[in-house]
Amino acid sequence: MCGIVAYVGHQKAQPIVIKGLKRLEYRGYDSAGISFFNNDTLFTYKTKGKVSDLEEILNGEVSDATIGMGHTRWATHGVPNNVNAHPQASNSGNLVVVHNGIIENYASLKEELISRGFEFHSDTDTEVLVNLIEDVQKKEKVKLGKAVQIALSQVVGAYAIVVFDKRKPNELIAARLGSPLAIGVGENEFFVASDATPFVEYTKNVIYLEEEHLAIIRRDREVRIRKIKNDKLIKPYIEELKLSLENIQKGGYDHFMLKEIFEQPKAIKDTLRGRLLSNEGIITLSSLREHENKFLKARRILIVACGTSWHAGLVAEYMIEDYTRIPVEVEYASEFRYRNPIIFPDDIVIAISQSGETADTIAAINIAKEKGAFVYGICNVVGSTISRITDTGCYTHAGPEIGVASTKAFTTQITVVSLIALYLGKANGTLSRFQYQESVTELDNLPTKVESILSLKSYIEEVAHSFKRAKNCIYLGRGYNFPVALEGALKLKEISYIHAEGYPAAEMKHGPIALIDKEMPVVVIATKKGYYEKVVSNIQEIKSREGRIIAIVSEGDTQVKELADYCIEIPESSESFAAILSTIPLQLLSYYIAVHRNCNVDQPRNLAKSVTVE
Ligand code: F6R
Repeated sequence: MCGIVAYVGHQKAQPIVIKGLKRLEYRGYDSAGISFFNNDTLFTYKTKGKVSDLEEILNGEVSDATIGMGHTRWATHGVPNNVNAHPQASNSGNLVVVHNGIIENYASLKEELISRGFEFHSDTDTEVLVNLIEDVQKKEKVKLGKAVQIALSQVVGAYAIVVFDKRKPNELIAARLGSPLAIGVGENEFFVASDATPFVEYTKNVIYLEEEHLAIIRRDREVRIRKIKNDKLIKPYIEELKLSLENIQKGGYDHFMLKEIFEQPKAIKDTLRGRLLSNEGIITLSSLREHENKFLKARRILIVACGTSWHAGLVAEYMIEDYTRIPVEVEYASEFRYRNPIIFPDDIVIAISQSGETADTIAAINIAKEKGAFVYGICNVVGSTISRITDTGCYTHAGPEIGVASTKAFTTQITVVSLIALYLGKANGTLSRFQYQESVTELDNLPTKVESILSLKSYIEEVAHSFKRAKNCIYLGRGYNFPVALEGALKLKEISYIHAEGYPAAEMKHGPIALIDKEMPVVVIATKKGYYEKVVSNIQEIKSREGRIIAIVSEGDTQVKELADYCIEIPESSESFAAILSTIPLQLLSYYIAVHRNCNVDQPRNLAKSVTVE
């Protein structure tokens, strides 16, 4: 949440920062701001709204400044307005800070600073932080880096910050705890950003700042990194950035979400690449092979995740128990972290996260580690916090997901889970050779099947048109299609603002059926394998109450077609892989409903892609 960009070098900073902020808008988009330093003057422009609103204020003028920083905000403390937007300045006006995170003890720090004569103009915790740094500078007479370090040691909470002091016009200080920061290292120039996308066209050298590290970044010098706690100097680890400009552009699609939905055949192939040799019937996952005994001897597998990733966790529960007979429990990371869970040292915890930065999932991992469990991460973002703090894990390799609503991350997470379940099922003998080989072949064929579902785009757009004025919607599924129903409902509510609920189909008669009348659209996932006949009975029950039915069925279905108002046919598959296939039309349905309602599909209100606050 919140995106940060900063630059120091020999190019004009303003266009680099503005372009970078646009790439980071997925992290928050309720206000934006920029500061740059030119001819001994610090300029700051801020506004409520998007980066495009900030550009309007800048009115096409481009400063010659070669040092600057910017921020795109997802409000935590204080409503979105010009005053609460970042950068936040210190009382003297010498310092400016951009911040992603939450300073939890800001109220007590603020009181102390007020008692020492500081004044506050915004409601933000960041203004407290910048004045705390100024206070340290005044009291301790230390250099900027040291002052930031001392101030941060008094702070409780999470932060990724960049600090600039106009008396030090060649220097930026960056630091992180709990929120990500990447430093792009160019030829005599440096970029700092919440992720690497703002500098992908300028450099392929990146330093992912570690937890509780502080970087002193000076024009024409090497980056110096210190541990905030003990001042230890750390040798910067420069990695090669494996990201291209093409990956982060819309590539002719109207929205990133649509592009990402259409990328799924490739994303699934990339997830399987080098890991699935279907002809030979081999799955190679080094992270599993190296720890195979731990998995096979595990007392339980606990899965922690949030949102869409939690839905992938539910599919994982069904699949891992089905294929391996190892007991699995799935928990919302936000509940797990606070409810004093029982964790045995021989439990394995699997954390699932697209961004690898979700605060609650990180906290759940830390608890699991403290209790001695082995933690396996499934992440999409390479180099993300979760990928680094887990004992081992597996990337989904879906490529950057920029649309706020998760799509390809979900289907590739299930793809990874399928590899894990099949690998372990074979290793412990709970899957027959035949079942294993059949599933491996099916997994290999998934991209082609997904491709064929995507070709139904125009029909799904038509269906969406009929439901664009709906106020509520119910999603029903059984077995593996129950998590899909939850995911379908989440997709609809987050991007179209239509209230939607997912239920196990059989639960309907325990309450939700009371809602059904001729105004209520009900999306039912009724694929052939699994509990088809039972779901057909549920459809009958809806039909008798005049509900409007949109059904996701297997190709060639005749029974449901007679009952449903609309049928979307998808290729037949085993029950477990239907979870991936039936998700695709639901993504498209939500997408087109949101487009027909003129909603901002890629940046829905109140949301942010990466939830780095709890
Ligand atoms: C929904 C969505 C969110 C995320 C959730 C977890 O479309 O994107 O529900 O799934 O915030 O995020 P990650 O997977 O990054 O941990």
